[in-house]
Amino acid sequence: MTLGSSLALHMSYTHLLNRRDGPIEYLTLNRPDVRNAFNEEVIAELTAWAAATREAAAQRDVRVVVLSGAGKTFCAGADVTWMSKTVQFTEDENLRDAIAMSQMFGAIDALPVPLVGRVQGAALGGGAGLAAVCDIVVAEESAMFGFTEVKLGILPAVISPFALAKIGRSAARELFLTGARFPAARAREIGLVHAVVPAAELDAAVERYVCELLAAGPEAIAAAKALIPQVWGRSVPEAMPITAAAIAGRRVSKEGQEGLRAFLEKRTPSWIKDTEENKGHRG
Ligand code: COA
Repeated sequence: MTLGSSLALHMSYTHLLNRRDGPIEYLTLNRPDVRNAFNEEVIAELTAWAAATREAAAQRDVRVVVLSGAGKTFCAGADVTWMSKTVQFTEDENLRDAIAMSQMFGAIDALPVPLVGRVQGAALGGGAGLAAVCDIVVAEESAMFGFTEVKLGILPAVISPFALAKIGRSAARELFLTGARFPAARAREIGLVHAVVPAAELDAAVERYVCELLAAGPEAIAAAKALIPQVWGRSVPEAMPITAAAIAGRRVSKEGQEGLRAFLEKRTPSWIKDTEENKGHRG
């Protein structure tokens, strides 16, 4: 994918590839031999990456993340070799392990920048969990999804808060309990995926979302993302102080004022100009 020219390599990992293209962070799970399955090392690296990305977002160095998997599969979930080791673990050791994984998903889920998931091949088990912590998921038509854990005699526990928030209880009752694999079209119906495209159009569809996101105010995006879990499950009267404070805060903010003024003055808002001028991105 060629989105602009300012290509910057930075922090390096063993199992992840990341590169910066202007304000876009491309993160690729890089264990194609095991279909990007994750073990404790990948979990530690993803957690460290999320912390670094949170800082980069605060500096406005990163405005969008594209998450993908190397090779022909997005992510085959937890590494079964690693899981077979956990069979020897005590319950306490398993608890520590699961908490580390939960913290990783939580850290990615709560990033103040939008994540666009680019799914090819399959997203199974924890791979479907990774799709669930993306804000937008674009999948190729032939991609398969599944909460397959019960087929291995375990369950989609750690990923359940994130998956449930996307697919709801009814689909979860079917899909968590059967562990059945389902196609991208079904994943879109239940809200796990937002766009399904032919394989050849996957990058272009991701790029369209990235461009949409770069045209929006970064602080506004972060505030909108943070608002969703705060409002979810609350009654209107309970949500009212939260929603009123959220919009009042945005209106008086520098970015909010810039956005409204730019619209009224029929000019480009500064965050688009910054992207175009400083980062060499076509926005
Ligand atoms: N953990 C560890 N290794 C895995 C893996 C996983 N979750 N998923 C696949 N692999 C490994 C395979 O063992 C195989 O290794 P080998 O080359 O040494 O034999 C390699 O990846 C390729 O797997 P293969 O099944 O041949 O690839 P594929 O492209 O035909 O199919 C999948 C890809 C993802 C559809 C398929 O591998 C699969 O269904 N994996 C299981 C996924 C799963 O149930 N995850 C839930 C875990 S809770």
